[in-house]
Amino acid sequence: MPRPQAAPRITLTDIDRLYRSGEKLVMLTCYDASFAVLAEEAGVELLLVGDSLGMVIQGHPTTLAVTLDDIAYHTRAVARTAQRALVIADMPFGSYQGTAETAFANAATLMAAVAHMVKLEGGRLMHPTVRYLVDRGIPVCGHIGLTPQSVHQLGGFRVQGRAEDAANVLRDEARLLQEAGAALIVLEAMPAALAGTITAELHTPTIGIGAGPDCSGQVLVLYDALGIYPGRKARFVRDFMAGSTSIAEALGTYVQDVKAGKFPAAEHCF
Ligand code: KIV
Repeated sequence: MPRPQAAPRITLTDIDRLYRSGEKLVMLTCYDASFAVLAEEAGVELLLVGDSLGMVIQGHPTTLAVTLDDIAYHTRAVARTAQRALVIADMPFGSYQGTAETAFANAATLMAAVAHMVKLEGGRLMHPTVRYLVDRGIPVCGHIGLTPQSVHQLGGFRVQGRAEDAANVLRDEARLLQEAGAALIVLEAMPAALAGTITAELHTPTIGIGAGPDCSGQVLVLYDALGIYPGRKARFVRDFMAGSTSIAEALGTYVQDVKAGKFPAAEHCF
């Protein structure tokens, strides 16, 4: 898929500059070469090769069946055409929860698949591993709140941090991830007010999904953003195809509305 040379690659320095200027960051999941082009041409800065691919591509009920090879395969596909966006590979269940050495070896596999950053779930337990990877040159995105790889322990895909003690645990976990050197922290499915507090307490950008408008940026699962979901739409999702005449237009509206603070709106928040 030859393309004319796009703008230079977005780096961590650019992300930091956007964050400090108060501009919202836009992340979207992406699993293949064609959507990588559409997403970055729409202005998406961060492409996440999420383990959500286990659900939206492979048809599993959770993300737990996704393997390191699956993520490496899809990362290579995205990285082959993404010229501008920073590519983040999700570390799948079982690939980082053991020793830090194993986590490093698996993260290195994803970096060799041409990711620019890896993402892993968990705060209190995982911050030493985040520190271990960062110290060895691997940028890391943390992920707290609803951590789908722990879905069975959490008792389902539920909003987290509603009670005061649970909210304080999340605030603490965000701080630990920041201290460990995380470059970004995904906040998933939590009250908007809590995500706003966490974001205000950090000097690390937060990326919200179901976490309200006061995060430093937003992420959606690509298929959700395009209205491709079985059954009822989740509260935090907006179908950007509604009112659009093309996928490119829908993704452009997603980017514009995140940048303008129009998405997420009150109706998408917990
Ligand atoms: O795998 C994924 O798509 C994710 C996002 C929901 C943040 O982790």
